[in-house]
Amino acid sequence: MPAGFHQLGGETVTGTLILSVFTAVLGSLQFGYNIGVINAPQKIIEADYNATWAHRYGEPISSRTLTTLWSLSVAIFSVGGMMSSFSVGVVSEWLGRRKAMLLNNMFAFIGGGLMGMSKLCQSFEMMILGRFVIGAYCGLASGLVPMYVGEIAPTSLRGALGTLHQLAIVTGILIAQILGLESLLGSKELWPVLVGVTVLPTVLQMALLPFCPESPRFLYIIRCQEHHAKRGLRRLTGRQDVGDMLAEMKEEKRRMDMERKVSIAELFRSTMYRQPIVIAILLQLSQQLSGVNAIFYYSTSIFQKAGVQSPIYATIGAGVVNCAFTVVSLFLVERMGRRTLHMLGLSGMCGCAIIMTVALALLDSVPWMSYISMLGVFGFVAFFEVGPGPIPWFFVAELFSQGPRPAAMAVAGFANWTANFIIGFGFPYVAELCGPYVFLIFAALLLFFLIFTFFRVPETRGKTFDQISSGFGQHSPAIMDMGPDKPSTELDYLG
Ligand code: GLC
Repeated sequence: MPAGFHQLGGETVTGTLILSVFTAVLGSLQFGYNIGVINAPQKIIEADYNATWAHRYGEPISSRTLTTLWSLSVAIFSVGGMMSSFSVGVVSEWLGRRKAMLLNNMFAFIGGGLMGMSKLCQSFEMMILGRFVIGAYCGLASGLVPMYVGEIAPTSLRGALGTLHQLAIVTGILIAQILGLESLLGSKELWPVLVGVTVLPTVLQMALLPFCPESPRFLYIIRCQEHHAKRGLRRLTGRQDVGDMLAEMKEEKRRMDMERKVSIAELFRSTMYRQPIVIAILLQLSQQLSGVNAIFYYSTSIFQKAGVQSPIYATIGAGVVNCAFTVVSLFLVERMGRRTLHMLGLSGMCGCAIIMTVALALLDSVPWMSYISMLGVFGFVAFFEVGPGPIPWFFVAELFSQGPRPAAMAVAGFANWTANFIIGFGFPYVAELCGPYVFLIFAALLLFFLIFTFFRVPETRGKTFDQISSGFGQHSPAIMDMGPDKPSTELDYLG
């Protein structure tokens, strides 16, 4: 075997494949960083908003206006994500996956620049606008990265490599949590650096992307450039003979050429796509409505209320657990399959949500319940990363063939970001209303998604895109026939 090639899961992993996946997931790292960065330095940034207000208007800001400005700074990030994720399909078809990632970096520069300069310019408007623009960057990245990685990955490693998108997100969250400590960059003077360093991975990605091949599936199936596709395949696989892969793509292309171009509306109209698009949307909703971002946006105050002594360190603890279990999922996903892991994750989260509720309800009479609630949160996050964290992201790319994939990624991304916005904005109000029982709402939702996954979600491990999409087609009725008492097992799915 030539130097620089490794054997993994029976598949040769080339330096080019590693470089390409690494470069792509730098976008995911940024996504995570910007989710996590706003949690710890809240009070310090708020103090600067107040100073700016006093300087401009000669009086301190009212607490109501401050809360509104802060909620806006947090939540406008998901609005940016919602808007841009919807254009993932168009952008990735028009520019190609690689160039789209390259140009997306413009948003990161503008967003990072606006946020980093906002203190100097005494403008909270710049901070809010910067959060919107960086959100737009993340929305595009959340579609482009799993699409590119899914398309260049060999079938047997598609899940493991797809999980790297999530691993980079959680690493970004953890880096942001640690750098956000007051003794590091989360201080009065340095917070602009904390929010501005998001441009560093951007520079690295721009330097490396020219060395990564464009997705051969895109080149061949969409652009009909067989020669370039072959060259990309050879670089990615390290093999001279890529005939079998090309044959598989040819088959997919043949099928795609028979269909009309798939628009978003058509995804819902056509019986062939309706079922996978409903599954894709529900999986994204199961990720966000599980309530995980209630933890990642508000953990410090949740831990405070639960009587935990050092809430910021507990937040970092949650970040570490988050990373560790994503690694666990990375190793399990090709062995246990997507469906099993997703169900395991959802049921574990449901159990932990109930434990958290009991612990918070008993807190006043049993003081050591604060430890139980902390364990509940850690367990909740751990189970999230086993399945609901990583799987929905790459599963959508797996459910669709080349033709409908971009439109499907756009719809799924939009569903994810909208639900993210709802939780980010609504959680504090609902928490105030429900007190310790707020996590019961998530427990009920998790139970619903568990039942849905059991009855409706197929296993995709080890199958080619063509096999997966034809599982939903007319000629293979396995999924279509599924009744409520006939769960989709792998065997069913194979038909
Ligand atoms: C997933 C979610 C994201 C969440 C993160 C937590 O990537 O999409 O919203 O914050 O997991 O690890």
